[in-house]
Amino acid sequence: MSVKPKTKTELDIMRQGCKILATVFEEIMPLIKEGVTTKEIDKFIYTSIRKKNSMPSFKGYGKPPYPASSCISINEEVIHGIPSKRKLQNGDIVGIDIGVYYNGYHADRATTFMVGDVSNEARELVKTTEASFYNGVSSIKAGSHLGDLSNAIQKTVEAKGYSVVREFTGHGIGSKLHEKPSVAHYGAKGTGVILPLYTTIAVEPMINMGTHKVYIADDDWTVITADEKLSSHYEHTIVVLEDGIEILTTLDKNNFIEFKG
Ligand code: MF3
Ligand code: CO
Repeated sequence: MSVKPKTKTELDIMRQGCKILATVFEEIMPLIKEGVTTKEIDKFIYTSIRKKNSMPSFKGYGKPPYPASSCISINEEVIHGIPSKRKLQNGDIVGIDIGVYYNGYHADRATTFMVGDVSNEARELVKTTEASFYNGVSSIKAGSHLGDLSNAIQKTVEAKGYSVVREFTGHGIGSKLHEKPSVAHYGAKGTGVILPLYTTIAVEPMINMGTHKVYIADDDWTVITADEKLSSHYEHTIVVLEDGIEILTTLDKNNFIEFKG
């Protein structure tokens, strides 16, 4: 499988779109509280994206067409939760996944938020999911095998006794939301495609407290853990550079992550 890197010009546009998405995340932060419905959050996200000359990437995507601007997945919901009248409750962990289409290119990010007083075990799951992302992305640079990232994520997760979802993966990203390569969050070092300089990918570990197995709900979208135990999701759009990677979907100035091997 060949991977097509971006040109400098394409990267410039993607940097802007990704910053727009990061700004949307900043703006929704204060809303994520006990009592708010996921539909209210989604409506705010739609307005925030539209105010920034962008479109929501997810609306109308796939079959049946995805009906909202964001995916909001609570507790045992892994990904693709459809915003509804359900209210966030104290102790929930809630994954919010948003895609932005700006000037012909997509940006994709997800974060799992903690609502009020979250149990220590849920907090640990969320923290480990984030740590697995950072361990994964610090294992690659231009010329690396994709499997090096996959393996670092899997190791971090399994060391804590959690499991990596296998039926869904990360992906290349650019003028299409899903491009080559498919980015598995488990795998062996030294395997998979070689990542050329300026490859853009969305890395998005989905980590379960119990079994890695999942099923799809009757709404045809919501992915739920087979044992109904908690799940957590963390995603950024990144670009592969000479000596490491850059996280694009953040406003943080320290967004270069050096290759650690
Ligand atoms: N981050 C997810 C992905 O890249 C969200 C897609 S939701 C969909 O697959 F509705 F667009 F499918
Ligand atoms: Co994605």
